Amino acid sequence: MNFDIKEKSLAGKGVKRIAWADRDMSVLAQVRARFAKEKPLKDKVLAACLHVTAETANLVRTLKAGGADVYLSASNPLSTQDDVAAALTHEFGIPTFAIKGEDTKTFFKHIKALISKKPHLTMDDGADLVTTIHKEHKDLIPQIFGGTEETTTGVIRLRAMAKDGALKFPVVAVNDAKTKNMFDNRYGTGQSTLDGIIRATDILIAGKTVVVAGYGWCGKGFAMRADGMGANVIVTEIDPVKALEAVMDGFRVMPMDEAAKVGDLFCTVTGNKDVIVKKHFQSMKDGAMVCNSGHFDVEINLKDLKSLANKVDTSVRANVDAYHVGKKKIFVLAEGRLVNLAAAEGHPASVMDMSFATQALACEWIAKKKQAPAVYDVPLEIENTVSNLKLASMGIKMDKLTKDQHAYLSGWQHGT
Ligand code: ADE
Repeated sequence: MNFDIKEKSLAGKGVKRIAWADRDMSVLAQVRARFAKEKPLKDKVLAACLHVTAETANLVRTLKAGGADVYLSASNPLSTQDDVAAALTHEFGIPTFAIKGEDTKTFFKHIKALISKKPHLTMDDGADLVTTIHKEHKDLIPQIFGGTEETTTGVIRLRAMAKDGALKFPVVAVNDAKTKNMFDNRYGTGQSTLDGIIRATDILIAGKTVVVAGYGWCGKGFAMRADGMGANVIVTEIDPVKALEAVMDGFRVMPMDEAAKVGDLFCTVTGNKDVIVKKHFQSMKDGAMVCNSGHFDVEINLKDLKSLANKVDTSVRANVDAYHVGKKKIFVLAEGRLVNLAAAEGHPASVMDMSFATQALACEWIAKKKQAPAVYDVPLEIENTVSNLKLASMGIKMDKLTKDQHAYLSGWQHGT
């Protein structure tokens, strides 16, 4: 299979969409210009399993400019922008394997198409590519230099592999870079999740009781934005420090068993499974809406909801299904998959600029020298480069330490 996309004729629209995102991705553009001169990825085959969006298109263009032979597949069956997939394949010479709405079998067939290109480098968002290679294509491992991982869920899976001694090549945890999670997870997820909910439902957020499950960076961002729009925000947590943080940020914290009774809108962002289960659906109000912005569709237990429902109406409107449970209806958005990417366009380009510049530079770092198999942090130098370039692109200047201040901070002589 050379590529697999929905429709070649969408390419023109995709080119415009990619150019629109590129306007806001100036850090990545600077990395691309350097890569085009220096070709740090020359002779490398790079397989990328990422959300196929306009922002990702600008990342894979950068990797190709760096000399890599790049192949792309989707990291989620519902997040693909078909026009972007067409443009990448037919206008940018980046064969893409992704069709919005593809079933699980096709999703993995596409990942296997990437693997058949015999990659030297991998780029993942959720670790499906790396885990498939480790489970089914061990023969390729000796030639793989390493990979990068974009998201919290993927890093958790990789660390579990490393702990088991199962990880056989090095992977950089891009998600754990400050230039990624402090901005993308917080401001990106915060805004794009609300965007997805609003595009799907057109509801007014003001006055709604919004239950946020999980108070990591994504949960914090979403809670902050929902609060800003006038919602009455409740947080559920399992980590005492995060629960306390949510309380001091001004939110009510309670167990999901309690929150289920009062919420109008529920959004899961925990990275864990079974956050909303049968007993919660049973106590929800008529008209409650549930959605997820965590990586996998395991947070809302839809099997439980189906078992309670006497009817499921999938024709309510795009990205909204009504589950009839006795006399009440519970609305599920985007089939419990990432609502921000399925019902909207994912995070805006300006924040993906930092994540993807970090990705590109981490990929250059891993390609330079073969490291031992482990999960690696993004080198601080890369984080500083990305932050400095972003500040410069925004026209923002900051202070510098004087020599004296530097000496004061690095000494211990001065006290009271
Ligand atoms: N993850 C969240 N938003 C995204 C976007 N716009 N492109 C790629 N990956 C994303």
